[in-house]
Amino acid sequence: MYGSRARRRKPGEASGPAMRRYRLSLKGMLLCLLLPGMLGSLALDRYNDYHTLRDMARAVYDGALRVPMGVLGRSVHLEANGQLDVDTAAIAYKVIGSSETPVRYQIQRLGADPLADPTTALAAAKALIGDAELPLPPDWREAAAPGMAFFDAMVEGEPMRVAAQVRPVVTPRGPAFVLIQAAQSNAERTNAESSAWRQETWRDVRVLLVMALLLWLGVSWGLRPLVRLRAEVAARAPDDATPLDASAVPGEVAPLVEAVNHHIRRQQAMVDEQTQFLADASHQLRTPLTVMLTQAEYALRESDPQRMRESVRALIARLDKTRRLTTQLLSLALARHTPQAGPAAFDLAACGRDVLIEYLPMADQRGIDLGWEGDEDGAAWVRGHADGIREAVANLLHNALEYTPRGGQISLACGEAGGFGWLRVTDNGPGIPAERREEAFDRFARLAPAPEGGGAGLGLAIARAFVQRDNGDITLGDGDSDAQGNVGLDATIRLPLSRVASQHAP
Ligand SMILES: Nc1ncnc2c1ncn2[C@@H]1O[C@H](COP(=O)(O)OP(=O)(O)OP(=O)(O)O)[C@@H](O)[C@H]1O
Ligand SMILES: [Mg+2]
Repeated sequence: MYGSRARRRKPGEASGPAMRRYRLSLKGMLLCLLLPGMLGSLALDRYNDYHTLRDMARAVYDGALRVPMGVLGRSVHLEANGQLDVDTAAIAYKVIGSSETPVRYQIQRLGADPLADPTTALAAAKALIGDAELPLPPDWREAAAPGMAFFDAMVEGEPMRVAAQVRPVVTPRGPAFVLIQAAQSNAERTNAESSAWRQETWRDVRVLLVMALLLWLGVSWGLRPLVRLRAEVAARAPDDATPLDASAVPGEVAPLVEAVNHHIRRQQAMVDEQTQFLADASHQLRTPLTVMLTQAEYALRESDPQRMRESVRALIARLDKTRRLTTQLLSLALARHTPQAGPAAFDLAACGRDVLIEYLPMADQRGIDLGWEGDEDGAAWVRGHADGIREAVANLLHNALEYTPRGGQISLACGEAGGFGWLRVTDNGPGIPAERREEAFDRFARLAPAPEGGGAGLGLAIARAFVQRDNGDITLGDGDSDAQGNVGLDATIRLPLSRVASQHAP
């Protein structure tokens, strides 16, 4: 049984006007992807640059402190009395006057080796010259090692860089130790550091802004052909099926435009076919209607009741044919539509036997031997729309009965082969020459005068449309030949077997 399926909502499909999906523009999407990444890398760069700049500035400013430290070191000398003294003139000239930034300094004689006995070294220390406020080095080892120690310290509330060096001096009374220190304010260095850092940061921010702007402009520029295309499509007449110009759009969008063009071509082909069908159908209906009008007028003018009855009888016969034609036209329209209900498994053999039973009286009336070939309980479970396939089988059997002369034979058979279920209608009538068999499927195609006046030439077209809708096909071949030289016709329907066939098997 066909069941009606609840329509499933596609992902992203809005359920109502209130739930409109927010769509991010291409520009927005690119910026959302690029900006956080670029800002992250900018922050990392700034952090690294900050450290590099600080180390570089320190190295430069520390190097500058080495000059006064050298002068201070050289200014210490031994007096004739064996006492240590400093050359104040050299200090005044070369230390105090050598730099724009004031240098604070101190030289003191330590009481002992600060590495061996720091307590005595400080307790017995004696200032030789300089600033008593300069702080002592935090690590004596560094200060006593070759080279000198550098450290940051607050001197009277001002951040300063201090250089310190412990020097041993040989005196007549034995070795003495001198602590030499020089210090400079950090302000200039910090200013230089932060101004260089600020400049680089601004440069990076500028690059970032220019890139974002270029990205924005680039995407807007790249999308301009699409905007033009949209305007062109919007301005089109409803029946304009000219393909869209794919050459003007960006390469990435060209396949989409090609696909739309392909769709337009298919739509146009469908519209053309429907227009042609409508024209053919109208033409086919107009002829019998004209004949019926003439017959009715003729009957009306007839005074002899007997002849009038004959005219009305002919009129009724014509009416019946026209009714059949309209039913066939409707069937053809239906066969071309995708049905609401999906395909289902059904027994093609049972369907064939049902149609056979329905047509037995007609076969009897025409003196034709109609029978089923093979196992009468056999089954072939196929997948499709049973109603349409039943109509297709009926059309094939109707043709066989229509074109097979009195005394002829028609047989139906069914089976399975190569993943398909097949149903065959074989007659021993005149058949259709091999080269005209495809033509027989065309709408309104009538290949030979029919014994009983014939139909509209729609039967095979309808049958094929129903079968193809279910992914199958109909083929025509030679049927059973007879002594009168008839080759007969073999019309076979093939439909994909249903995967659930085993469940239905008896
Ligand atoms: N079994 C057959 N034997 C011989 N010719 C056939 C047979 N079936 C179809 N034909 C030929 O193919 C043509 C097309 O068949 P089709 O069933 O489409 O139309 P029709 O039978 O002429 O009209 P309709 O089926 O619309 O009443 C027929 O006119 C006939 O010439
Ligand atoms: Mg027919």
